Amino acid sequence: MRGQSESVSITSSGPLSKPLAVDDLGVSKGLLVDLVLKVLYSEGEMDGPDIADRMRVPLPVAVDLLDMLRKEKLCTVLGSDRGVVPIYRYGITEAGIDRAREALARNEYVGPVPVSLESYLEIVKRQSVGMACSVIKREDLERALDELVVSPSVINQLGPALNSGQPILLYGAPGNGKTYVAQNIVNLVLGSIFVPYACEVEGQLIKVFDTEYHQLVDGGVEGRDVDRDARWALCKRPVVMVGGELTLMSLGLVFDPISKCHEASLQMKANGGIFFIDDFGRQLLLPEELLNRWIVPLEGQVDYLALHTGKQIQIPFDALVIFSTNLDPGTLDEAFLRRIPHKVMIPNPTLYEYYLLFERVCASKGVPFEKEGFSYLVDSYYRKVDRPLRACHPRDLVEQIATIARYNEEEPALSKEYIDQACANYFVQRPGGGFD
Ligand SMILES: Nc1ncnc2c1ncn2[C@@H]1O[C@H](COP(=O)(O)OP(=O)(O)OP(=O)(O)O)[C@@H](O)[C@H]1O
Ligand SMILES: [Mg+2]
Repeated sequence: MRGQSESVSITSSGPLSKPLAVDDLGVSKGLLVDLVLKVLYSEGEMDGPDIADRMRVPLPVAVDLLDMLRKEKLCTVLGSDRGVVPIYRYGITEAGIDRAREALARNEYVGPVPVSLESYLEIVKRQSVGMACSVIKREDLERALDELVVSPSVINQLGPALNSGQPILLYGAPGNGKTYVAQNIVNLVLGSIFVPYACEVEGQLIKVFDTEYHQLVDGGVEGRDVDRDARWALCKRPVVMVGGELTLMSLGLVFDPISKCHEASLQMKANGGIFFIDDFGRQLLLPEELLNRWIVPLEGQVDYLALHTGKQIQIPFDALVIFSTNLDPGTLDEAFLRRIPHKVMIPNPTLYEYYLLFERVCASKGVPFEKEGFSYLVDSYYRKVDRPLRACHPRDLVEQIATIARYNEEEPALSKEYIDQACANYFVQRPGGGFD
């Protein structure tokens, strides 16, 4: 398929290759021992393969770790199923319970073994979103926006912008389709990437995989038998869309004082995919605060994040960033604008585009289109009152007409009466203006 980009290849050595020994996991033994104890403590007793599955490590690696625990009398073998390849059942000892509680006091993370920061850095680099963007061609974009009415000038500007993988600002008046366009183009960034469930940095844990943004490929059928390091989930390139709810806090590592784990920042979750900041300027934060926060990651494709210990860490920022705003870009900081090479204005529709939109919406809502009614609408509610056309108006007005007709138990129509009623509901009377 055109625009498809393959996921990074797994070689016999490197961060994605199947770990054969405890040392291949690249994290400290202390962390591993803590994790096996917590897994075992959570169930009391477990079969070896289930422990391996929970930790997403191959069975021999889990068995090596369990042997280490056994030597320290932290766990015992309760028995085996006497199969050709016996499955052992493990139980936690009193000493093991004490140690598990100490481990839980350090952090409550129980799950796949974290990957090292070093491996994370390498994989982010190898599966850069730039590769997926660079294969986007004109016909892909035209297909993606097929259902929309978008002026050719927008497509001409947006295409190369997407292909570059560099930050994009969509701006223009409300209702002309900035969000809608963005929602339709995110599917152009194809392919899959590897996302770690968790990452260890400076002895701290960062949870990276998030079901809200990371969609497993092929339903995520994988376990300890997978022919690679199963601590990485194979996911579709993520799309992180945030709007007015965006806070500065979610752009940093969020430390949970109860579990004592960090949640990755939104940028980290968007790595390898798209970060779409919708309605820029409508956040609770001041636009300047948000702009300042973005200047560094936009410039150097690297982000500085603080662990709860106060230590600053450097994390790559590799996402296609799209901002959308109905603020006048002239009011935005020049230093910020300079770092967004592609500024795409989503203009008001022309009368012809408005007409196309209107006709389409009528067809989809079961309202018969009539030229006479349409001309009445344009003359009375746009030309006479000097109101600009907006791409959202056809949908909103035709919906009103359909609702009013349904309420009156009548067939919907573009009659003068219905148009007047819909416009009276929808448009605000402007002081000094007037509709008659
Ligand atoms: N170009 C278009 N083609 C088809 N429908 C459109 C187009 N633009 C807007 N619409 C319709 O109008 C609705 C509103 O558009 P959208 O929310 O994308 O506007 P916006 O520019 O993001 O506005 P705001 O600045 O208020 O966030 C869309 O959900 C869609 O139904
Ligand atoms: Mg919008």
